[in-house]
Amino acid sequence: MSKIYGLLAACVLCSNLAFAQKYQTSAPIEKRVTALLKQMTIEEKIGQLSLYTTDWGSTGPTIREGYKNDIRSGACGNLFNAHTTEFVRELQTIAVQETRLKIPLLFGFDVIHGYKTIFPIPLGEAASWDLKAIELSARVSASEASAAGLNWTFAPMVDISRDPRWGRVMEGAGEDTYLGSQIAAARVRGIQGKKLGQPDAMLACVKHFAAYGAPIGGRDYNTVDMSERYFREFYLPPYRAAVDAGAATVMTAFNDYDGVPATGNAFLLNQVLRKEWGFEGFVVTDYTSINEMLKHGVVENEQQAGELALNAGVDMDMQGAVYQQYLKKSLTEGKVSLAQIDESVRRILRFKFELGLFEDPFKFCDPTREKNTLLSPQNRAAAREVARKSIVLLKNEANALPLQSTQKIALIGPLADNKSELLGSWNGAGNADDCISLLEGLRAAHPTGIVFEKGCEITGTDRSGFAAAIRAAEQSDVVIVAVGEAAMMSGEATSRVHITLTGVQEELVLALCQTGKPVVVVLMNGRPLVIPRLAEKATAIVETWWLGTEAGNAIADVLTGAYNPAGKLPMTFPRAEGQIPVFYNEKSTGRPFDPESKWTSKYIDEPNSPQWPFGFGLSYTTFQYSEPKVLASGKDGFSVHFTLSNTGKMAGEEVAQLYIRDLVGSVTRPVKSLKGFQKVMLQPGETKELHFDVREQDLSFYRFDGTFGTEPGAYDLMIGGNSQDLKTVQIRR
Ligand code: NOJ
Repeated sequence: MSKIYGLLAACVLCSNLAFAQKYQTSAPIEKRVTALLKQMTIEEKIGQLSLYTTDWGSTGPTIREGYKNDIRSGACGNLFNAHTTEFVRELQTIAVQETRLKIPLLFGFDVIHGYKTIFPIPLGEAASWDLKAIELSARVSASEASAAGLNWTFAPMVDISRDPRWGRVMEGAGEDTYLGSQIAAARVRGIQGKKLGQPDAMLACVKHFAAYGAPIGGRDYNTVDMSERYFREFYLPPYRAAVDAGAATVMTAFNDYDGVPATGNAFLLNQVLRKEWGFEGFVVTDYTSINEMLKHGVVENEQQAGELALNAGVDMDMQGAVYQQYLKKSLTEGKVSLAQIDESVRRILRFKFELGLFEDPFKFCDPTREKNTLLSPQNRAAAREVARKSIVLLKNEANALPLQSTQKIALIGPLADNKSELLGSWNGAGNADDCISLLEGLRAAHPTGIVFEKGCEITGTDRSGFAAAIRAAEQSDVVIVAVGEAAMMSGEATSRVHITLTGVQEELVLALCQTGKPVVVVLMNGRPLVIPRLAEKATAIVETWWLGTEAGNAIADVLTGAYNPAGKLPMTFPRAEGQIPVFYNEKSTGRPFDPESKWTSKYIDEPNSPQWPFGFGLSYTTFQYSEPKVLASGKDGFSVHFTLSNTGKMAGEEVAQLYIRDLVGSVTRPVKSLKGFQKVMLQPGETKELHFDVREQDLSFYRFDGTFGTEPGAYDLMIGGNSQDLKTVQIRR
């Protein structure tokens, strides 16, 4: 037996050597790509433009059987949903041993917030307003995924969304263009590392281009329609920031924009992305989105769909097999050009060379590295650090938090002793068993006096656990109740009309409040929820999103005061679904709300204001801002100066925010737009002098004539700790 293995190993070694000799050359990448392209048949070229899923997972309706045969025949140049060094090695071996040209495969996967060590969902990380932490999360995730065979992740998702009914808000950075752009760039830096070609660097894929976060009614995949001015100002910048940060690839969106599906939209791909922004990487479709152009009703058959996509600038067909089936025919019929096909193949091959796959196709398949990297103690420590930074304290009456070490705690709720939901709905290769539940985290931090009762399930009407939960509450000093969404209630294809707590969870919390004990609600969810009754009745509310592997420890750190929370909401929490879309940087209208006048813009049954505004989050200490002053700085430049003091008793961090309003423009302007933020640590009693530089770009917008720039006039500059409580100084320039 061992002889057979020896022989097999020798064969693998020989063919690896042959492979290495064939492709190892010191010529520049461009020359190597050209040389390879010359040897390729049209079928092999189209194979490079095709991406198929393995049988390990899918996010769409069609599974393409027989992908191994597709690899063998050269029809499949790239795979997704294959991971672990073992499986990737098996499939890569087919490509580099059994195909004519031995071109290695790219291996893609949705590494959205962690591979094995799971970090907070991206919306949660955005609440940290901590770019270093967000970059670290992406870095650790990429180092783990690349140690498990992968070299391409379908992240970051940078779609701005102002609609919490849309389930995919969970994957993004929330509602704001400026914050979203900063985060988009940080994630790309983290994913791609110092340099592509290093063994722990992966290709990033910015998605979903474009405006996927603005479907009408918040219903996933629905139509998107907005003016180009609005689109360019509020929705496009995060994609641009990711491209400027060097993102290697871009994914198209399922939706249409201005009547043309994003996957066949030459304005988006050829004009904006390539011509205006100079993007040189490759564009991949979303899952079968070429085929879906039939249902969009813009083509009569799949062949036409493929032509529309290629001519619009799409390089790679994800899972649709449209290029594979029809592109050659389209070429013969003159509907697409060979030059266009070659250009797309070139864009893809370049990265295969740049990643070093031609030198070593098994570069990402080292089982020792895989074993040592995944879930390492350092990675878990990073996940805990990022998780606690992502927590937002929404309410803390009578300083119910932090807990006192002598308090008897009743820990209640369907999410208190749960692990699987903590991973969120896109959780890489994460395992629930590796997660720390809230019960475990709290027991470790507060070893005595915790009684646990589940109380109810996340869904359903079973109230049989209420009585025991109430008894436990009555015998405690403080009640902690963990409620929220199941992971599969947010994410792709999970739009909700009612974004309240499901089942009898709210009823349970209200019953606990009736006991008269302080009730601390720990929310675990993937989107802003509508919870007005809890906002009123609960003593304290802590938003913890889905925090991943270290969730329980991170939440315990905050509840016990070992860590002073500093997160701020990246998305507005409405009072009622009927307010949606509700977001902070709306425009004034001709009849802005005036309580003295009936004929102004408002609802008659709810205030305009949200439950909690964008940028909001409390701390265990208090902060005070001085009045801002403006100082000139450099030619035409200026800066806003102010002091920030910690007026409470604990050291803590504050995210100081700068908003700007252009009072008169050639087109209507938002009442405020975030243009800067900084996270500052202050000891009790400490005061720091801070300033924000205001750059020309911060005052620029798409003017009436469509050009981007500033206009002379007056501006309000506002500083504060959230988008509602601000101090203003006015300037003219
Ligand atoms: C569909 C999703 O929209 C996209 O974000 C994801 O990357 C692909 N499926 C592949 O899983």
